[in-house]
Amino acid sequence: MKKIIIAIDGYSSSGKSTMARDLARRIGYVYVDSGAMYRAVTLYALRNGMVIDGKVDSEALIKDLPQIEVSFMPAGSDGVQHTLLNGEDVEKEIRSMEVSGMVSPVAVIPEVRHHLVALQRKFGEQRGIVMDGRDIGTTVFPDAEMKVFVDASPEVRADRRVKELRAKGEDVDYDAVLKNIRERDYIDTHREESPLTKAPDAIVLDNDNMTIPEQMDWLLSLYEKRVG
Ligand code: DC
Repeated sequence: MKKIIIAIDGYSSSGKSTMARDLARRIGYVYVDSGAMYRAVTLYALRNGMVIDGKVDSEALIKDLPQIEVSFMPAGSDGVQHTLLNGEDVEKEIRSMEVSGMVSPVAVIPEVRHHLVALQRKFGEQRGIVMDGRDIGTTVFPDAEMKVFVDASPEVRADRRVKELRAKGEDVDYDAVLKNIRERDYIDTHREESPLTKAPDAIVLDNDNMTIPEQMDWLLSLYEKRVG
């Protein structure tokens, strides 16, 4: 069967990562979480004193980009794919509120985007890939055979994020999470370099009232149409 590229874009915490990961597993494709790559670069900036008073020292970060390598370790027994920053497993740290609060300003830096888009395209060279993010169907793989744009209300997304973080033992406040989601939506959709927008040929999936199995059926039927 021919191998295709599947691009899943959408807002923060819209459930697209779970969806993309489960779809990849079902059809035997490689899954790449592009948001994790922006988070790993953000963690690098935080660890190296490149965030001062909530502002990113973009000049210093740009200088270090050639030595920032982001890769993935295939899912282990916990079913989670781990993100590696220069070989170190940083999966837990990149999901913290500290990183979530700084990732959008890091992701607006054009040089950061160019560096990560080049890495993302390398992952897609063999096709047979599901990648989720904000600009996958528009910028990274404009020729992807299947494009999905996931939408859900900010309140539903905040609720999901709170549950996810609490399950991991983080003590979080719903209002703070909702505020963070709204801020990220604003920055993601208003940045100059590849803002979050639906590709003209993407199909919208509004998952406010859909269960995970319903979303999977929807995705599998679209995938079958695209490869069929
Ligand atoms: O999907 P996520 O919430 O883990 O993504 C983290 C941040 O990274 C998000 O606020 C915007 C940015 N991002 C991006 O700009 N482009 C992508 N392809 C993926 C994520």
